Amino acid sequence: MRRAHAALAERGIPLASNQVEYSLLHREPEVDGVLAACRELGVTLVAYMPLAMGALTGKYTSRSRPPDRLRRSVGPFRGDRLDRAAPVLERLGEIGERHGKTRGQVALRWLIEQDTVPIPGAKDARQAAENAGALDFRLSKEDIESLSDATQGWRG
Ligand SMILES: NC(=O)c1ccc[n+]([C@@H]2O[C@H](COP(=O)([O-])OP(=O)(O)OC[C@H]3O[C@@H](n4cnc5c(N)ncnc54)[C@H](OP(=O)(O)O)[C@@H]3O)[C@@H](O)[C@H]2O)c1
Repeated sequence: MRRAHAALAERGIPLASNQVEYSLLHREPEVDGVLAACRELGVTLVAYMPLAMGALTGKYTSRSRPPDRLRRSVGPFRGDRLDRAAPVLERLGEIGERHGKTRGQVALRWLIEQDTVPIPGAKDARQAAENAGALDFRLSKEDIESLSDATQGWRG
């Protein structure tokens, strides 16, 4: 990204954004330097799979996994990962209740509070409208820290 940024800058073109996987259950951009470099260079980090493929909405559990085989075999749905994420979903629920928001909206808002732009997928208009509800509230410093603390294990 730094090389691309420099090559474009030589031609007077700003590097506008970098799209990487980033969510409460995938915090690698904080560890691999991408988020810090985005902030330093003024590049917008576009966060893909910001709902961890739906896991952060709280509608899936280890006993009720997504219907499609592909999702069941990857990322947050593999092995015991949904069970390990249960405390995170609980915290999202508590914070959401205080704000009148869903778990997914709080998870998206946490990304926005990191100055990133999440691009959640939606299967229908209801999901799209719900996800847009991440835009009209703020998380407190305590909320943000509480979620960051609860997901330390997902940084690596
Ligand atoms: N650059 C890349 O390499 C890359 C890679 C992957 C994805 N992306 C992009 O990132 C974006 C999002 O990725 P993604 O869709 O895979 O992951 P995501 O946004 O983390 O999860 C989206 C899924 O969560 C569920 N969902 C979304 N909103 C919901 C709501 N309000 N209530 C309940 N369930 C909800 C839906 O699936 P169900 O209802 O079936 O559970 C939806 O398909 C897409 O635009 C995709 O193209 C980019």
